[in-house]
Amino acid sequence: MNSIENLSQDSLGRRYFLETYGCQMNEYDSSLVAGLLEARGYTPTDDPGAAQLILVNTCSVRDKAEETALEKLRSIAHHRRRNPAVRLGVLGCMAENRRESILERIPEVDILLGPDHYDRLGDLLDHPNPGQKLTSALGPDIAQTYEGLFAAAPAGSSAFVAVQRGCDMKCSYCIVPTTRGPERSRPLRDVLEETRRLVAKGVGEVTLLGQTVNAYRADDGNFGEMLSALDGVPGLRRIRFMSPHPRYFTEPLCQTMAGLEHLCHHIHIPLQSGSSRVLRSMRRQYSRDQFLRIVDRIRSHLPEVALTTDIIAGYPGETQAEHLETISVMEAVRFDTAYMFAYSPRPGTLSAEMQENLSAEEKSARLAEIIEVQRRHTYERLDSCVGATQEVMLEGASRRNGEEWIGKTTHFRKVVLNPGPEARAGLVVQAKIIARRGQILWGELA
Ligand code: 5AD
Ligand code: SF4
Repeated sequence: MNSIENLSQDSLGRRYFLETYGCQMNEYDSSLVAGLLEARGYTPTDDPGAAQLILVNTCSVRDKAEETALEKLRSIAHHRRRNPAVRLGVLGCMAENRRESILERIPEVDILLGPDHYDRLGDLLDHPNPGQKLTSALGPDIAQTYEGLFAAAPAGSSAFVAVQRGCDMKCSYCIVPTTRGPERSRPLRDVLEETRRLVAKGVGEVTLLGQTVNAYRADDGNFGEMLSALDGVPGLRRIRFMSPHPRYFTEPLCQTMAGLEHLCHHIHIPLQSGSSRVLRSMRRQYSRDQFLRIVDRIRSHLPEVALTTDIIAGYPGETQAEHLETISVMEAVRFDTAYMFAYSPRPGTLSAEMQENLSAEEKSARLAEIIEVQRRHTYERLDSCVGATQEVMLEGASRRNGEEWIGKTTHFRKVVLNPGPEARAGLVVQAKIIARRGQILWGELA
């Protein structure tokens, strides 16, 4: 009996449990892993106790993310102790850079696969080696783009498409270049092919993923060319991308973006700090003034655009005046929303060697101030939508009330409304915005 037959019998009725922490790239990777397992006859389960294969896809970007994943692993490791046939695996960034501490703290772990090695999972399942407890595949593989591996079908009308893996930036605080290796772009033709397949399955919105996605450059096209090509895919209603780097919003790219029909009016532009000195120390490759000029350039081409950002509070050496400079950039730009974090030293990064000048409480206090400023701006932005009619793509029924649905505007704003009997995920409706409650808009069919 060959190994494929062997496997298909073996894996009959096999279940896998897969939990994901961290960024959208991790979510995408988990859907690749799910696709790979389901092609081998595995079915998903929400109950780790019912699974033969238990996987946790992990994040290293901040200490809290690591602790949460370790806590989860600790709480499910007993399934592995109880049943020797169960395999417990750690995927993702922590497998890559926290191997020793994972094994020390959770010795039940059998499998460790870094972000460039998920395709090894198939091999492991095809050729189980009971004598060998631990299998690990780590370190960057610059040839890895997961071509030919297809993600499990997305649940809704919106899907991620990874177009680039890894990162060539050297931001002082960030562990990602270490855990995900150097930047690689997927060929444009493969991105188009994957997108067409998704559209054929009913997907109306794609979000292109990459760590510095607007630096995308493949042999058959650059980022602007990719956006233009996707804009012409029949049936695709909306195109988004995450996460760009400010310095690659060039004049030609902004001109290209302005001419597209399906590009959403939402751009994420990570600020990190509003102080030029801190930005230099972070190695961000732009100053405060350059960032503000890039924002002006984007807005001059896309006047309706919603801008969101990432901010780190309490970077090592940040003075009170520098903290206030961050707030003054926020006041000048008035972002729609922001993802805001207290600085968390990551062992192995440049900034982890720097002396921290603030206690955890002081960092939290600065973060709280930033969150408060942002809350005011978010409310202002949302309030300005009340009374307007906006296009909303439905995503799913609200859990609170079966008649209510949740959808998003092109600006990435959440809207709750009752779309009537025609409702289905992916349907695009015109909604009149009637109110804001907290960070959510309420609308009615226009
Ligand atoms: N501490 C706090 N926030 C961080 N980020 C990345 N590394 C760190 C760190 N060491 C934030 C940045 C980045 C986002 C994904 O996470 O703002 O843009
Ligand atoms: Fe976490 Fe960053 Fe890795 Fe994503 S790339 S999983 S956010 S460390």
